Amino acid sequence: MDLDTYRAELEASGLSESDLADDPMVQFEAWLEEARRVGVHEPEAMIISTVGAGAVPSSRHVLLRDLNGGFTFFTNYNSQKAKELAEHPDAALCFPWNILARQVRVVGRAERASAEVSDAYFATRPRNSQLGGWASAQSEVLASREELEASLAAAEERFAGREVPRPPNWGGFRIVPYEFEFWQARPFRLHDRFRYRLDDRGDWVIERLWP
Ligand SMILES: Cc1cc2nc3c(=O)[nH]c(=O)nc-3n(C[C@H](O)[C@H](O)[C@H](O)COP(=O)(O)O)c2cc1C
Repeated sequence: MDLDTYRAELEASGLSESDLADDPMVQFEAWLEEARRVGVHEPEAMIISTVGAGAVPSSRHVLLRDLNGGFTFFTNYNSQKAKELAEHPDAALCFPWNILARQVRVVGRAERASAEVSDAYFATRPRNSQLGGWASAQSEVLASREELEASLAAAEERFAGREVPRPPNWGGFRIVPYEFEFWQARPFRLHDRFRYRLDDRGDWVIERLWP
């Protein structure tokens, strides 16, 4: 079935509370698995919004690499997003599965992944990506493309003939969620929206929201 037909079926059938898992992580995994199965391009791409100085938000894509009680991605710890997370650990994620007329929003608190987790993931990356981790001063001003290529060449020379270790300023963040919203488009903008939030006892409460 092509994606347009699949999307039309989802819009027609909609989302009801009885469709939802009690645990939002289980629900999220089911939707992610469905997006993979039907061939959504890069379903792991998520937009992360962070808060910077003066409460100014900023958003960009990252790739979800692991789901382990949280949403793990990897980046440069000197990047804008990483500096903002260090100052303001609350972060918002958005999975833009608009090709399926779906969207998932998550709000959570960021914590750095352990060195072991970051090392293990870094070791799985292609060598050129590993060298790129050393070569890039992510989010700093770069004078020219040539400067980037020279920096990559310097990293190649430095690690010639040996394994590339993880740069100390590169690693994971895990966003530990405290709120979710699952959104399914319906005809005439009468969409289905369900929010999961944690109550005082730490149990998930599901509420339908006006579209
Ligand atoms: C689909 C997609 C996936 C991306 N995945 C990552 C990622 O996992 N980690 C990362 O550091 N940047 C990733 N990027 C690049 C970021 O969007 C961003 O340009 C970069 O991390 C610098 O962001 P910052 O200056 O706001 O910190 C991705 C971009 C796209 C479009």
